[in-house]
Amino acid sequence: MKFGYFDDRNKEYVITTPQTPLPWINYLGSEDFFSLVSNTAGGYSFYRDARMRRLTRYRYNNSPLDMDGHRIYIKDGDTVWNPGWQPTKTPLDSYSCRHGLGYTVVEGKKDGVTARQELFVPKGDACELDRVTVCNESAAVKELDLFSYVEFCLWDAVDDSSNFQRNYSTGEVEVEGSVIYHKTEYRERRNHYAVFWANCPVDSFDTTRDAFCGVYGGPADPQAVRAGHCSGSIAHGWAPVGALHIHLTLAPGESRSILFGLGYIENPQEEKFIAPGVINKTRAHAMMARYATDAQIDAARIALRTHWEELLSTYHLESGEEKLNRMVNIWHQYQCMVTFNMSRSASYYESGTGRGMGFRDSCQDLLGFVHIIPSRARERILDIAATQFEDGSAYHQYQPLTKKGNRDVGSGFNDDPLWLIAGTAAYLRETGDWSILEEQVPFDNDAAKAQPLMEHLRRSFNFTCTHLGPHGLPLIGRADWNDCLNLNCFSEHPGESFQITGPSEGPVAESVFIAGMFVKYGHEYAELCDHLNLTEEAAAARKHIDAVEQAVLTAGWDGAWFRRAYDAFGNPIGSKECAEGQIFIEPQGMCVMAGIGRETGQAAQALASVEERLDTKYGVVLLQPAYTGYQLNLGEISSYPPGYKENAGIFCHNNPWISCAEATLGHGDRAFAVYRKTCPAYIEDISEIHRTEPYVYSQMVAGKDAPTFGEAKNSWLTGTAAWTFFNISQYILGIQPTLDGLKVDPCIPHTLSGFTVTRRFRGAVYHITVDNAAGVQHGVKAVTVDGKAICGNVLPLAAAGTEVTVQVTMG
Ligand code: BGC
Ligand code: NOJ
Repeated sequence: MKFGYFDDRNKEYVITTPQTPLPWINYLGSEDFFSLVSNTAGGYSFYRDARMRRLTRYRYNNSPLDMDGHRIYIKDGDTVWNPGWQPTKTPLDSYSCRHGLGYTVVEGKKDGVTARQELFVPKGDACELDRVTVCNESAAVKELDLFSYVEFCLWDAVDDSSNFQRNYSTGEVEVEGSVIYHKTEYRERRNHYAVFWANCPVDSFDTTRDAFCGVYGGPADPQAVRAGHCSGSIAHGWAPVGALHIHLTLAPGESRSILFGLGYIENPQEEKFIAPGVINKTRAHAMMARYATDAQIDAARIALRTHWEELLSTYHLESGEEKLNRMVNIWHQYQCMVTFNMSRSASYYESGTGRGMGFRDSCQDLLGFVHIIPSRARERILDIAATQFEDGSAYHQYQPLTKKGNRDVGSGFNDDPLWLIAGTAAYLRETGDWSILEEQVPFDNDAAKAQPLMEHLRRSFNFTCTHLGPHGLPLIGRADWNDCLNLNCFSEHPGESFQITGPSEGPVAESVFIAGMFVKYGHEYAELCDHLNLTEEAAAARKHIDAVEQAVLTAGWDGAWFRRAYDAFGNPIGSKECAEGQIFIEPQGMCVMAGIGRETGQAAQALASVEERLDTKYGVVLLQPAYTGYQLNLGEISSYPPGYKENAGIFCHNNPWISCAEATLGHGDRAFAVYRKTCPAYIEDISEIHRTEPYVYSQMVAGKDAPTFGEAKNSWLTGTAAWTFFNISQYILGIQPTLDGLKVDPCIPHTLSGFTVTRRFRGAVYHITVDNAAGVQHGVKAVTVDGKAICGNVLPLAAAGTEVTVQVTMG
């Protein structure tokens, strides 16, 4: 069943009922100011950091769900309704929500009145614009009361939701005409406030939640709306809100547009006040002046659209497969932007108060983002590298606002260092900007300890070399990519973190997965050394890599697939010798991608085992058989019921690894079949089973052992976004940036007769047509560039500013 449809021309998903199986959200903003907005206009806003600079409140895990948001109420006689249905849930005569690239338009119609709520964050500004257009489509004059309402968060989202003995007494506002200034804590150490405004005179306002909602009322039935006006309340402590009311008299056919804005303003310390206790509003006035008229707001909308068109023009596919085109050209890349911005911090499942930016997560996000805005990727790489320790290990997470490592979680996730090589190498392949390796980057954010980025990569590589276990495989530490495989944890007490309980330096437990990574990214590191003429270092690196590869092919090989790990007692995990958890997905994907066992047959055999043992109709599960009980030597993975999350869920993130791995063996049919199974557009028809948004990936889909097989959770913020785009664009369609130029090496289903990709690369535009009349899965027979045959399939670098036509014949 579907709850909407794709509108590819407008690059939107159109939702046709507010009662989707779960809230289906969108992200507004891609620089500093962000808002999450659901299909009923629920959601919340923050500046840079969802924990430390939260502008509006959101109650996660609420019942009913999704009550807080960017709310518009219309009172028409005795009827009160919202254009997005929530929170009054007054039945609408018609409803739609269009989630587009950086904007959302929610439209409802009731008793002859249409209200359209258009939300977006303008480029280059720290505010959300919420334009409401009300149209009287009835034959009679309408007297309407329009209210816009937000509930402020007192900045630190954790303190805001826990420290009531203090924060019930700190709330402060100022009101000036149609503008409410939320200035809690501005009197003391903060130099920032929020501004909530309308671009026209208002008839009344409220700034206390009690006055607007009623102490025992709530957003579903606010007493001020029922009364038809606000009471001019001024918040002193308790819960400051922004509520603005405008009375509208609309003749038949008449419509009116009003802008409500929510902005974030920072003042220099010495310019905070203009009089004792009176905040300096100059910057707020300037912001409001930028969006005073419809023409200004339209211009901001157009600038946003143009920006996205430009971003998406870097990689554009025409394949004759509608669903594939839509995912590649729009939604995969859009989700890559969102994961790049958010890492795993703020979604409808990540509260923004827990994790900041993940070291491994953000490095992987680069794989799908680096072509979109290389300069931002560059900056991110340097930020991430600055959280590395001198021994090459790394803080597992850092806060986006401070860019400092999170000490509570610390380090010890032994895959982390290698992901820095992965992200940096991807950046170099895309840009050829070797200067990044010379950038001086601190260790542990200490400028006194700065070294060139290349030195950081070297220490990443060496960290693995110096942390090998009894079988010559890398030590796993607290965990590798699989945060829940905690082989050194042994937690017996509820509430202990599986990730940071127990020693991070366990001297025995080893990871075959990290070994696969070391081979793959170690080779990428060695290639950088080659390029820098570090011949001896490259040779030494390859020796280390070969040794680890041998360890994988011996201790890491189980007979028909790659083992997963060795536990703290030296027993294999992911082996036929185990009662449960005999085969895991991760090492099969990573080791095959690394090329391990390609010539000798183990690679193909491992993937055949995946197909036989892990594949399901909804995707490849993480392991089999699922763990049925908690096991001290395994940690969190065995804490989940069978079929959920890392315990045999379909963890979407590593499905593309299998697809990539299949592609490296030339199996185009299978690579695409794996891609398709979890791909949102291809499973839109089962939205009632899948439940999360049909335009983006979720972290996990319940596996076959779960009673809810096929149900997804944790949408949006997942490494699946980057890996899937990396997979489809580079492994399957085969347009691969390399250090030397763009390589074309498709691995596609034999039924795909061809496709064209327009690719902007290092300033030039390549129009690449791939002809597969031969009906093969892999293999390039001939390549011409501007009509001239070339040798091999790496395109000569075209000069920046030029366009070249490339014809590729498969066979
Ligand atoms: C989740 C993992 C996540 C980890 C770290 C676990 O509870 O299952 O997917 O990576 O927490 O936050
Ligand atoms: C989600 C985490 O963000 C990611 O870092 C991890 O690799 C996966 N879960 C698997 O545990």
